[in-house]
Amino acid sequence: MADGSPPPDSKPRLEGEELERSVSGRQWYHTLELAPGVVTQGWFDTRSVAGRVPMPSLLTGRRCLDVGTFDGFWAFEMERRGASEVVAVDVLDPEAWDWPAGSTAAVKEALERRQDGGAGFEIARRALGSSVRRLERSVYDLREADLGSFEFVYLGSLLVHLRDPVLALERVRAICGGQLLVVDTIDPLLTMRLPRRPAATLDGLGRPWWWTPNQAGIVRMVEAAGFRLEGRPRRLYMPRGAGQEAPPVSPKLLLTAEGRQAAISAWKGDPHVAVLARPI
Ligand SMILES: C[S@@+](CC[C@H](N)C(=O)[O-])C[C@H]1O[C@@H](n2cnc3c(N)ncnc32)[C@H](O)[C@@H]1O
Repeated sequence: MADGSPPPDSKPRLEGEELERSVSGRQWYHTLELAPGVVTQGWFDTRSVAGRVPMPSLLTGRRCLDVGTFDGFWAFEMERRGASEVVAVDVLDPEAWDWPAGSTAAVKEALERRQDGGAGFEIARRALGSSVRRLERSVYDLREADLGSFEFVYLGSLLVHLRDPVLALERVRAICGGQLLVVDTIDPLLTMRLPRRPAATLDGLGRPWWWTPNQAGIVRMVEAAGFRLEGRPRRLYMPRGAGQEAPPVSPKLLLTAEGRQAAISAWKGDPHVAVLARPI
């Protein structure tokens, strides 16, 4: 292995009561069915989205990479679709995410609790008997000399958390020898107001949320990093999972742009766009 990591199947498969104990009482990001009747209470439930993203239904023979895997839903999905090998990278210590100045310890601790050093991925990997290899790497540090090249790369809900999303996409281009699928957050109101002009709102206040572009903005970021689009962008909503309470939607909420955005998320899910591209 180019990166010298140990094989992933060194621990026994998790099942039965041990699996149920490991799954319950912890915070999950992804909703994963790990065994019949054993489903994680994810913050999001991306299961219905998997059939709607422009990911080839068969990835047979392709070497695939999932960037920012969290509990691993998309990495396991690529494995399920027949990938010859799946590597998943993540930053397991939320301290190492891109934080704006002035973030409080409480916000960092809340993220640390959810991430829990990546324990959810490991439980899921062992329960599914998966061969996905997870490596601790930042998207900014992806190098072909370290990881080799990939025929399919999935990058989901990550650009919004990065101070420099175009640099991240450039790093992805360096290890992408096939297709890249970006599925990331968009600002739906900005997309309606400016359907063709690339634009983004900037957060950068207290939490690692940075640029939320309109749809044209995501497309421009991908192109600016050296990719050519394959097909048209596809609008999607990431549905809330059982682990995320629906915020109450009152008429008062609809008075502000932020409130309207929260209402859209509560009603349909988090607005995203899927863009399939290939390095130029
Ligand atoms: C919102 S979650 C998205 C999870 C998953 N990719 C998806 O689409 O459902 C963001 C993930 O990106 C990871 N992350 C944050 N900064 C990163 C970085 N610089 N490089 C790689 N991953 C990063 C986080 O650890 C987390 O797993």
